[in-house]
Amino acid sequence: MCGIIGYIGSKPATPFLIEGLKRMEYRGYDSAGVAVCGGAEIITRRAAGKIARLEAAIAARPVVGTCGVGHTRWATHGPPTERNAHPHLSGDDSVAVVHNGIIENANALRALLREKGYEFRSDTDTEVLAHLVQELYEGSLEAAVLSALREVEGTYGLAVVSSRDPGKIVAARKGSPLLIGIGDGEHFIASDASAILAHTRQVVYLDEGDVAVITADGYRVLDVNALPLSRRVDQIDWDLGAIERGGYAHFMLKEIFEQPQTVENAMRGRVIADDGTSKLGGLNLSHDQLMAIDNIIITACGTSWHSALIGEMMIEELCRIPVEVEYASEFRYRNPIVTDRTLCIVISQSGETADTLAAMREAKRRGARTLGLVNVVGSTIAREDDGGIYLHAGPEIGVASTKAFTSQVVALALFTLKLARKRGLSVTRGIEIAHALAALPDQIRDVLSRADQMEQIAEEFKRAPNFLYLGRGVNFPVALEGALKLKEISYIHAEGYPAAEMKHGPIALIDEMMPVVFVAPHDAVFEKVVSNVQEVKARKGNIIAITSRDEPALAGLVDYEFRIPETVDLLTPVLASIPLQLLAYYIAVKRGANVDQPRNLAKSVTVE
Ligand code: F6R
Repeated sequence: MCGIIGYIGSKPATPFLIEGLKRMEYRGYDSAGVAVCGGAEIITRRAAGKIARLEAAIAARPVVGTCGVGHTRWATHGPPTERNAHPHLSGDDSVAVVHNGIIENANALRALLREKGYEFRSDTDTEVLAHLVQELYEGSLEAAVLSALREVEGTYGLAVVSSRDPGKIVAARKGSPLLIGIGDGEHFIASDASAILAHTRQVVYLDEGDVAVITADGYRVLDVNALPLSRRVDQIDWDLGAIERGGYAHFMLKEIFEQPQTVENAMRGRVIADDGTSKLGGLNLSHDQLMAIDNIIITACGTSWHSALIGEMMIEELCRIPVEVEYASEFRYRNPIVTDRTLCIVISQSGETADTLAAMREAKRRGARTLGLVNVVGSTIAREDDGGIYLHAGPEIGVASTKAFTSQVVALALFTLKLARKRGLSVTRGIEIAHALAALPDQIRDVLSRADQMEQIAEEFKRAPNFLYLGRGVNFPVALEGALKLKEISYIHAEGYPAAEMKHGPIALIDEMMPVVFVAPHDAVFEKVVSNVQEVKARKGNIIAITSRDEPALAGLVDYEFRIPETVDLLTPVLASIPLQLLAYYIAVKRGANVDQPRNLAKSVTVE
């Protein structure tokens, strides 16, 4: 959600800024801009819409300089227009600011600054920062930024340049990630490693409260009192290929097709097949601590919340520990029952989702141990949790989450296996699940090899205005996830329901116009699902079924069928979710939607 890039070195800054912005366009894409220090002044170019429009504006009127900052925006305060696009300039144009996050006391600060004669040129909260830095400037940009931040309430990742103190970028982080990229005679600041990966792999992740001063030759990290801090240099361990489309029409399709590999990566070195358990290096939970867990809370948002629901069923079934799944945004504002024997599992692809992070902090504050299931290495949740299981799915660029979901389910299964074997699960059952896990990559390959079947089904339904997704047990969350995928990228209204619950309301919607997707593998509740299929057919619904074997019971009831391989019940979501990803993808493409950058959405929701 919003992207920040900054460059300082001896080369022209603009190409670095544009390239960084393009790499981060998936994080926000309603407007963009750059500010470059050229000689004694700051020159800005901004444009509403995609980065391509900013590029065109720069091509028409080039900006030259070796230090600059850029931003791609997902609007929070004010519509996505050029005047609201970042960077924002101070009253005398000497300071330019790019900012992710929300300044909560912007109204109060705006009133104070107006009294001092500052005029506002945008509707954004960010503009107050630019004026404030100008107001508090006394000869050093970092001192002015530090003073300004003392006045500010809210969250920020920000980068500031000034024509009065050129040759440096000052950056600060609170609640919104930033990293410094270390080059040879040049340095970068970015909110996302993908923005700078083409130029350096050496990065310093800023911590909460850090302020950094970046020059061509080096960087310093300071605390709020301007005292120097030392921060570790990390190495990014993925390649440019991971953030490029590599011949696929869209990142989403590439990520769907990566799943045999990403699921394998999530398991690599972690399954102990002979003993039916797993080895999880980052768990940070001793045997005694695992045995002492009284209850588990899993908290997450969106797709990650759906995998949490699957985790709940896995853990309760195999470990017999009570589990509650909470929307992170709700958990943080109620009064949940948490003790020091509570384990709070936090699931997040990005590791930066504001509500999920806040929920994790709240759980910690109340005494729970926290365990993060996170994809992005070095992200805030991964750094603040007590223990973690990285998903190792590689960068997920498509805004609709796909490969992260299947990896989350696998990571939950690995954790369940470990805990369950300690808490009484038989070795035979453990081995059965371990073998089923090991078979998943090939089974996913099989599903993907028949993607064209889903494309044909998509062709039939691409004009449907509504969709219903139904499933039971572990496949109820799969129904929710299928519906979410479809609505977010194709803008078709879709709902997921527990299949039997349909009778209590949604059945009223069913007629010959309503496509109903049943997630119906041959599991323990299959017979029950058949009854629900009959109920829909009796009302002339159009049925698409995800099944796992030839089912005489479904003969004559199902209009379209897609077969997935059989696995143990608890792992069916990994296989059943993939045809639903494909269905959503192909329908969206056939409707001409921008699959990778759906309207109103952005990857990584770093505001409440
Ligand atoms: C849906 C989607 C979102 C995210 C949600 C949580 O396709 O991507 O619903 O799952 O915003 O994001 P993370 O997992 O990064 O915390």
